Amino acid sequence: MDDERIAVDPDLHRPNDPDYPDDWQSETTSIGSSIYKGMMENGRRYQSLRNEEYCVPADDQQFEAYEAGHLLALILEANTDNPLFRSPVGNNPKHILDLGTGKGNWAIDVADMFPNATVRGVDLFPPPVSWMPPNCVLEVDDALREWTWREPFDLIHMRIMTASWTDSEWDRIYQQCYNNLQPGGWIEQLEAIPPVECDDGSLPSDSILNTWGPYTMDCARKAGRELNAMDIMTEKIRQAGFVDIHVKEYKWPIGPWARDQQFKEAGMVQLHHWLSGMDGWCMWLLTKFGSPQPWTKEEVQIYVAKLRKDIKNPRYHTYQKAKRVWARKPFPDEISKVHIKKEDIE
Ligand SMILES: C[S@@+](CC[C@H](N)C(=O)[O-])C[C@H]1O[C@@H](n2cnc3c(N)ncnc32)[C@H](O)[C@@H]1O
Repeated sequence: MDDERIAVDPDLHRPNDPDYPDDWQSETTSIGSSIYKGMMENGRRYQSLRNEEYCVPADDQQFEAYEAGHLLALILEANTDNPLFRSPVGNNPKHILDLGTGKGNWAIDVADMFPNATVRGVDLFPPPVSWMPPNCVLEVDDALREWTWREPFDLIHMRIMTASWTDSEWDRIYQQCYNNLQPGGWIEQLEAIPPVECDDGSLPSDSILNTWGPYTMDCARKAGRELNAMDIMTEKIRQAGFVDIHVKEYKWPIGPWARDQQFKEAGMVQLHHWLSGMDGWCMWLLTKFGSPQPWTKEEVQIYVAKLRKDIKNPRYHTYQKAKRVWARKPFPDEISKVHIKKEDIE
C-alpha cells in the first residue's frame, strides 16, 4: 500500500456545518425489486437457497450498497485501461465467471466490455436486474456445490466475499477455481476488512467507529465464517497452485475529506456504501453472535444510528483497508518445472 497519508481537503470542513452536504444521495439509485421471496428476519430479507445462512441480507437496501461498492472499486481504478479487473486476459476472453455476483454489476459491465465473451454471475439470490447484455448470464446457485459449467474459464472473479465461507470452504472454492480455469487463466479477488482506520489522529479514540471492526469480526469468528478474506486470500491462492501472483493494496476513504479529486469521489461513494450497507452488515451478526449476549434488533438499530453519525462527521479522516489479488493458473510445462524444482530441493 502507498504509505503516504491521503491529503485532507482543507476547504471541505466548515466548523458550523458538521454534516456533509447530502447531494451524493442523487448519485446512486436503487433499482431493486422485491418479487423474490427469501427469508424475512428483523425487517430484512435473506437468501433461502443455502441451508447455511449468509450473514448479509439480499434486499433492495443491500443491493444499493453493492452498487455503491461497485462504483467505489471502479473510481479507484479510473486511471487504468480497465477499471473492472487487472488480470491480463487479452482482448478476446471467451468465458468469465463472477462468484457471488450480488446485484450483478461487475458481470454486466464486463459483458458490455467483452461482447464476444460469455460472462456468468452466480449467487444464492436472484440478482434484481431487468435488463442485461445478451452475453451475460446470471444464475442462482450455491458456489460450494459441484460446478456444472462445462467451459473452462479465462477469468474467475470474486469481490467482497468475506464471511461467505469457512476456512476449509475457502480452500475448496480456490481449488474449484483452479480446476475450472484454462491453463494460463486468471483468478482475481478484491476484498476489504472492516476496521476503520485513520492516519492523522482525527478520529477520537472513544469514537464508536473504533468498535465496529472488532465487534463484527468477533461475531463472524463465532459464526465460523470470518471477515478476514483480505488477509488470507493471497496465501490460499498460492496454496491452490496459482503462480504469477500480484497484489495491490488500497485505502478506501470514507467521506469526501480527501483533497485529491479521485479520493474525494471515492470517499463520497464509500460514505454512501457504508450508510446503505451498515444496517445489513450489523443486523445478522450482532443479533446472533453479539456479546455478552445476542443483541436485539432495536439495540442494533441504535448502534447503527450512532455509527452513521460518526461516519458522517467530516472532521474524522477515516478509511478502510482493501486489497486486490490476481494470479494465473500455470501452463502444464510450468507445473512440471515447478515439480522438478521442488524435487531437486528435497
Ligand atoms: C457482499 S456480497 C458481494 C456482491 C458482489 N460480489 C459485489 O461486489 O457487489 C457477497 C455475495 O456473495 C453471495 N454468496 C455468499 N455465499 C455464496 C455461495 N455459497 N454461493 C453463491 N453466492 C454466495 C451472497 O449472496 C452475496 O450476494
